[in-house]
Amino acid sequence: MSKILVTGGTGYIGSHTVVELHKAGYTPILVDNLSNSSIKILDQIEKIIGVKPEFYEFDLCDNEKVNDFIGKHPDIAGIIHFAASKAVGESVQNPLKYYHNNFFSLINLLEAYREKPINFVFSSSCTVYGEPDVLPVNEAAPVKKATSPYGNTKQIAEEILEETAKANSNYNVIALRYFNPVGAHESALIGELPNGVPANLLPFITQTAIGKREKITVFGNDYDTPDGSAIRDYIHVVDLAKAHVAAIKLLEKGNPNGNYDIFNVGTGNGYSVLEAIHAFEKASGQKLNYEFGPRREGDIIKVWGDVNKSTKELGWTAQLGIDEMMASAWEWEKYLHENPIQ
Ligand code: UD1
Repeated sequence: MSKILVTGGTGYIGSHTVVELHKAGYTPILVDNLSNSSIKILDQIEKIIGVKPEFYEFDLCDNEKVNDFIGKHPDIAGIIHFAASKAVGESVQNPLKYYHNNFFSLINLLEAYREKPINFVFSSSCTVYGEPDVLPVNEAAPVKKATSPYGNTKQIAEEILEETAKANSNYNVIALRYFNPVGAHESALIGELPNGVPANLLPFITQTAIGKREKITVFGNDYDTPDGSAIRDYIHVVDLAKAHVAAIKLLEKGNPNGNYDIFNVGTGNGYSVLEAIHAFEKASGQKLNYEFGPRREGDIIKVWGDVNKSTKELGWTAQLGIDEMMASAWEWEKYLHENPIQ
């Protein structure tokens, strides 16, 4: 079966996608510079799928290395491009790091395929919708001004891809707009490996439950939502990984919508921060220590996705619910506690 290059393949979503690609009969080839992941993830993947995936360590911002690699792998049939910097707060402190990493890597990959056709799946985010005017938000909703350099790199990358695909039919592109990826593989052998103090809700919850953090602060309890806390569309990382396989399949078949397309990847359901905390307590049997704090600057009040287009045209729908998300995140945290991965 065909070879798929997975950039950022040892990362959180990348590693789960490698597993699902293998299960679907593809041969994933991983590239990662290990700036935010561990080489040990390759062994973890091997424990799940029975083979160690082919792996190359280099920085995709290095144009020569990209060209050399692509030249040596003429049989790559598709690319799933995860490799990017993704911490919102850090991007505000150091915007150039984000513009450098997220654009040079993307442009180097695209330039390497000027002369031959390539299927390309891009890791985008519902952050492009900002605070949506209509919920659930669908793909036709306007893109709002980004509130961080990280969010801006996703918006601009979508534009780069759309314009590049329009100019050159060699590029067959799907951008997946993820809502909030959470959870871990059912084996508890791979999952999210946060760097330092987690900024995202789920790792903060699981680290509090295991005793690494004293308590969680709920950022804001006076929003215009039923319980006053902010609402998100949490999506199980394994479902999200499967959406990438579905995207590759649609590109292989030929997307009737043309050579640039966008899909929401969420469940279509919104949960508040308090509901997420209570769902975790129920799934794990752990009581969580939490308190209310001020709103976090730049936060969206409520967002959840309209997933009709993904269901109908991508042929993908989320299968796993909030219980499985919370239970698997907890199993992973307990595994990490016993088997630290640096
Ligand atoms: C954040 C990014 C988003 C990015 C996504 C990647 C911001 C503003 N947005 O989304 O651009 O694509 O991560 O995963 O950073 N919360 C708490 N206490 C905590 C942590 C979070 O109450 O300790 C709340 C947040 O206020 C939010 C919800 O939990 O309402 C989810 O937060 P988070 O996991 O950081 O995701 P987003 O902010 O939705």
